[in-house]
Amino acid sequence: MATVQLYDTIGATYTATRRTEPRIAARIWAALGDARTVLNVGAGTGSYEPPDREVLALEPSALMRAQRQPDAAPCIAGSAENLPFDDQSFDAAMAVCTLHHWQDPTAGLREMQRVARRVVVFLFDTSNPDQFWLNRDYLPEFAELPGCRVLASLPELAGAIDARLEPVPVPWDCADGFFEAYWRRPEAYLEEGVRRGISVWDAVGPDAENRAVHELRADLASGRWAERNRDLVALDQADLGARLLIA
Ligand SMILES: C[S@@+](CC[C@H](N)C(=O)[O-])C[C@H]1O[C@@H](n2cnc3c(N)ncnc32)[C@H](O)[C@@H]1O
Repeated sequence: MATVQLYDTIGATYTATRRTEPRIAARIWAALGDARTVLNVGAGTGSYEPPDREVLALEPSALMRAQRQPDAAPCIAGSAENLPFDDQSFDAAMAVCTLHHWQDPTAGLREMQRVARRVVVFLFDTSNPDQFWLNRDYLPEFAELPGCRVLASLPELAGAIDARLEPVPVPWDCADGFFEAYWRRPEAYLEEGVRRGISVWDAVGPDAENRAVHELRADLASGRWAERNRDLVALDQADLGARLLIA
């Protein structure tokens, strides 16, 4: 399975930059409602798992499973498209920053709905990739990535399980280093360690990555980035397409 190989390859330094962002976690945990038992699909190293509920994690990559803390929730190997549980086994199923990697996102969502009474997924609407300056000015290749194409049809995906979508602002000092996290801290994208925690950079390939970083570095030095993005500097949070899908 290609995606498992991807995270078995690129996941080695995941925890260096990827962790629970408390303000996004609060939104996810509120959406879980009064669920006592929670399945975390595509759980990775355990970010966003609620500490006060009974969590079972499911994650296909052995490298990601191996980086979970000893006191993290138990984790089994598996994929969203084929959940090894009876119908309605959990009060809720959650998934964070993972659906764009699934081979069949609609099948995965239907599986979550089959095994749980409530479904909560944190993801990004990528129907307008140019709303993020990094795509617009430096990385047009983002729009062609399979994961971007999947999430560009988010309303259809949500419709498959009758879910609603709620916007989630990304704070300027977001603690979780996902692709959009550094929207007001552009220098972060110059750091190799930051980029290695974001699968987009591996997906676009080294030529596009090197070009984008080179051009961004030059624009930061010349003041062109600041000129183009003057309106962002005053914002404490931004709508970059982050959404909660809730069913
Ligand atoms: C960006 S990480 C997110 C991990 C974690 N949820 C978090 O928020 O840090 C994406 C995860 O999705 C997993 N994944 C990929 N394909 C999957 C699938 N078909 N079903 C479930 N998880 C999958 C990857 O192995 C990886 O651990």
